[in-house]
Amino acid sequence: MPQNVERLPSVPRVLVIANQKGGVGKTTTAINLGTALAAIGERVLIVDLDPQGNASTGLGIGRESRQRSTYDILMEEVPLRDVAVETVVPRLSIAPSTLDLLGVELEIASFQDRAFRLRKAVAALGKEGNSPFTYVLIDCPPSLNLLTINAMAAAHAVLVPLQCEFFALEGLSQILGTVERVRRGLNPELSIHGIVLTMFDGRNNLSGQVVEDVRSHMGEKVYETVIPRNVRISEAPSHGKPAILYDINCAGSQAYLRLASEVIQRERVLRAA
Ligand SMILES: Nc1ncnc2c1ncn2[C@@H]1O[C@H](COP(=O)(O)OP(=O)(O)OP(=O)(O)O)[C@@H](O)[C@H]1O
Ligand SMILES: [Mg+2]
Repeated sequence: MPQNVERLPSVPRVLVIANQKGGVGKTTTAINLGTALAAIGERVLIVDLDPQGNASTGLGIGRESRQRSTYDILMEEVPLRDVAVETVVPRLSIAPSTLDLLGVELEIASFQDRAFRLRKAVAALGKEGNSPFTYVLIDCPPSLNLLTINAMAAAHAVLVPLQCEFFALEGLSQILGTVERVRRGLNPELSIHGIVLTMFDGRNNLSGQVVEDVRSHMGEKVYETVIPRNVRISEAPSHGKPAILYDINCAGSQAYLRLASEVIQRERVLRAA
């Protein structure tokens, strides 16, 4: 690890939600896991690191109200707590993104600390021991670019959403390889928090086969909770709400609540270690 890199704080815990594959449920997981953690009393910040800004939109933060964004964090070193805005969910804030992020990779490429810009911001949150947040969840773009590298360099652990489809395992080795390289080169603390299987379709034999395959390859790294394909989950973002607020009783919301308790459970084990 390069010298003069800030240490990660113990509070907040920083989890990055990443998979280079598009449309696998990263943003849905960030929003609903964040909501579920907030519902059980955690103070959560979602960092939208995707120029598409789906997490921001899905939490009801319109483009016109994104005065400051994650671009300003990476480019101008504006503190995270100044960029964070509150959402409709109590105890859940978001650092929104704008399309400016599309250019950030080129703009920071010449900075010596280009991979550590977000880490610096996260470290500052915990500095005086009074972090406004207990969890930071970073939503990544569908790519292993400098934005995702910044996220991994700033995190304690990676949570990988994996869609229950034929090529699931193939994509997995790419992301695991990247995590390993980041661990070796940039962030020795980085671990795999877990793999969450998403969009499970019980009527489809393939879905069941994928769950079996992924479990037999990845063992305990795979969360028990499997997120079902559920229409309420796909409807919720257009209402600017997490599914858990839109319809707490639907199968998808219930699954995300279970995932949150598993995440907390694993956190206890990790902290005790
Ligand atoms: N469990 C689910 N059931 C039904 N639809 C879902 C489910 N999870 C996600 N979706 C829908 O699938 C689409 C992709 O999900 P999402 O945006 O969370 O993926 P992503 O990995 O963040 O995508 P991207 O790579 O583009 O950022 C969205 O329209 C979302 O509403
Ligand atoms: Mg997304």
